[in-house]
Amino acid sequence: MTAPVVVVGSLNVDRTYRVRRLPAAGHTIHARSRSTAAGGKGANQAVAAALLGADVALVGAVGDDQGGDDLVESVAAAGVDVTGIVRVDAPTGEAVVLVDADAENLIVVSGGANLCLDAAAVTSAVRAARFVVAGFEVPDDAVLAAAARARELGARFVLNPSPMRRLPAGLLGPGALLVVNEHELAMLAGGDATVGERARAASGRLGGCDVLVTLGARGALLHEASTGHPAEIVAPRVDAVDTTGCGDAFMGALVAGLAADLDPAAAATRAVEAGAFAATRPGAQSSYPTSEELTRWRRDRQ
Ligand code: RIB
Repeated sequence: MTAPVVVVGSLNVDRTYRVRRLPAAGHTIHARSRSTAAGGKGANQAVAAALLGADVALVGAVGDDQGGDDLVESVAAAGVDVTGIVRVDAPTGEAVVLVDADAENLIVVSGGANLCLDAAAVTSAVRAARFVVAGFEVPDDAVLAAAARARELGARFVLNPSPMRRLPAGLLGPGALLVVNEHELAMLAGGDATVGERARAASGRLGGCDVLVTLGARGALLHEASTGHPAEIVAPRVDAVDTTGCGDAFMGALVAGLAADLDPAAAATRAVEAGAFAATRPGAQSSYPTSEELTRWRRDRQ
């Protein structure tokens, strides 16, 4: 595949339960409603980027089952190139998503087929790209292969290490972009320092990569190694109904903006808007805006 944006990541069938309050350990609670939809951080990010006009391909793994068929079909329907999605001998990934009355969520992922994505599948699928995006719902070997292909192709490597685990040595370096939330940043560079100071410390520890920290309803903070100064991006205020997949909407919009030659701060600003927009609608992919919707939404809010 030769799309300018290639996402190497997961596809999951999301089983979502709306609840009044997220349960505590040992509690049994009733759901108010339930639904099934396409999800997975990789698929969500690819769909978000495609809806905003990016030419994007997804490299991932699904099982040879109904869930796999449905996911590939829905991602393709959003305009994503799915030729890099392989079928493996494991059940398609699934996620149980609980969403409470305050729009907060709690997610448990059963990786299944995603955990079978190997380096060979990634290396052979990524033939040309300007941006290679990878996440942590697939194995280290696949992520390392994505980074290696980005280096070989002269593409920018964008890492969203979620759910966080130890970063393989040498994964990031100058020119790479790391996108983390505050909890993930704390695992990389903890302490009492400000977010900007911790972003700079993480950049220093990770080979001088740029670091973009998502701050939920507060927006984001961009630390570019070349300037050394943090830039804060304030999020629009919204009435959130469901925050599931908002970080993926952010990632997709970010890379769509970079692929459209926006500078990193402008791309991050659009990403913050896309994440905020996504919080106003239920679900993950079902909540993502097209370019026209985002433009209209921005105009209506002025
Ligand atoms: O970021 C939200 C996503 O996390 C869900 O779609 C779920 O599948 C998990 O991957």
